Amino acid sequence: MHVAGSIHADVLSRAPGWLAVPSDVNDLLPQLWSRNVAKNADGVLTVAGLTVTEIAAQVGTPVYVVDEADLRARARDFANAFAGWDVFYAGKSFLCTGVARWVSEEGLGVDVCSGGELTVALRAGVDPRRIGLHGNNKSDAEIEQALDAGVGRIIADSFDELGRIVRLVTARGRDECPRIMVRVSTGVEAHTHEYIATAHEDQKFGFSIASGQALEALQWVQAAPELELIGIHSHIGSQIFDAEGFAVAARRTLRLHAELAARTGVEMPEMDLGGGFGIAYTSTDTPATPAELADAMSRIVENECAALDIAVPHLSIEPGRAISGPSAFALYTVGTVKQLHLDGDAVRTYVAVDGGMSDNIRTALYAAEYSATLASRRSDAGPAISRVVGKHCEGGDILVRDEFLPADIAPGDLIAVPASGAYSRSMASNYNHVPRPPVIGVLDGQIQTLLRRETLEDILRLDVG
Ligand SMILES: Cc1ncc(COP(=O)(O)O)c(C=O)c1O
Repeated sequence: MHVAGSIHADVLSRAPGWLAVPSDVNDLLPQLWSRNVAKNADGVLTVAGLTVTEIAAQVGTPVYVVDEADLRARARDFANAFAGWDVFYAGKSFLCTGVARWVSEEGLGVDVCSGGELTVALRAGVDPRRIGLHGNNKSDAEIEQALDAGVGRIIADSFDELGRIVRLVTARGRDECPRIMVRVSTGVEAHTHEYIATAHEDQKFGFSIASGQALEALQWVQAAPELELIGIHSHIGSQIFDAEGFAVAARRTLRLHAELAARTGVEMPEMDLGGGFGIAYTSTDTPATPAELADAMSRIVENECAALDIAVPHLSIEPGRAISGPSAFALYTVGTVKQLHLDGDAVRTYVAVDGGMSDNIRTALYAAEYSATLASRRSDAGPAISRVVGKHCEGGDILVRDEFLPADIAPGDLIAVPASGAYSRSMASNYNHVPRPPVIGVLDGQIQTLLRRETLEDILRLDVG
């Protein structure tokens, strides 16, 4: 930990233990930013040849800024590292026509979990055979949409849904036999640096392996002439850094795969091991590279298949956040700054920006940690422990709980929050009738609008009363 100069302890003392005091508060931690982001000599953040001051002048704030070359490179890195596997981009992390097109141009399929996401993927020209439809409560309309499109896989989540698919296929009377994966719950739940390998059956997704329901569902699908069983699907959680969770889940799913083969003599051709690969939101996060993940996961599966004496099925994964998350930052304008004197000598600076929990709910929803930097100028001030908050009428409207920002931060400054490409715009709301920010792509100094800024008129159009 570097302690900068002669700063007074009272502006530092409320920093959490994990947050290092920066030696220069203007510095970027490269691992938090997309590869074409830097600061210029004036301390202004730049992305792919554009300064954030130019971006703010052209499109306003708040805005999500996607580094297109970086996102494409992350997709490509997964495709290359997992050569021989199928990589499906998890659209729930962030989906728009442009991004769906980019990832499919880089060789990925797209995993969708609603009729809306399916519509976007199809609109982008993604090959339907490279689309998987998820969802624990798919409607008739969504299933029919998937059947009409001819998606490559429907990931079934319940007996009710399986019955529904069979009923719809039968009623349609066409020559179709949808390819089905059975989503299982392995009893492994992994989040960030922790995983729990037992007793996590108490959640809504999939068929439980431990209870025998997963085996029953596989046999049910195998026996249904209207359906083609292609394999097991397992997704164990999010923001995972520890390969051990995947290892335990893979072992359990492969054992189930082998058990079905032993009972029926048929080895299913495929298996999906889900997504959830962690990214860096703060200095404490140390994500694995796609190559390291591919290495570890291949070894786990090959060893287990050898031990079970079964062929290695054709494998797939579904990374979302690891592709879209680090490629984008959110850009805000500071509106107000307050120094809050806490108990003792402690001071915390509250920096309120022109967005908030409506454009990033993750901090409020599950105490996610983020980082931030002063993006529009260099500062000579020392670091002050700060909290970046939004403009909503809610005490929990926090974007970045703890960060060192320059002590002279002031209204009109721009602040950038890295790793904002996943589960930010995709989970955005209109709380307080605040329109949702636009998403722009930047490539070679050019801006491409991916999603335009929502207007109050857009919102009011729904208000027919
Ligand atoms: C089934 C499934 N696949 C993939 C993902 C993507 O996870 P991540 O964006 O963390 O990679 C999710 C996320 O919830 C999921 O539920």
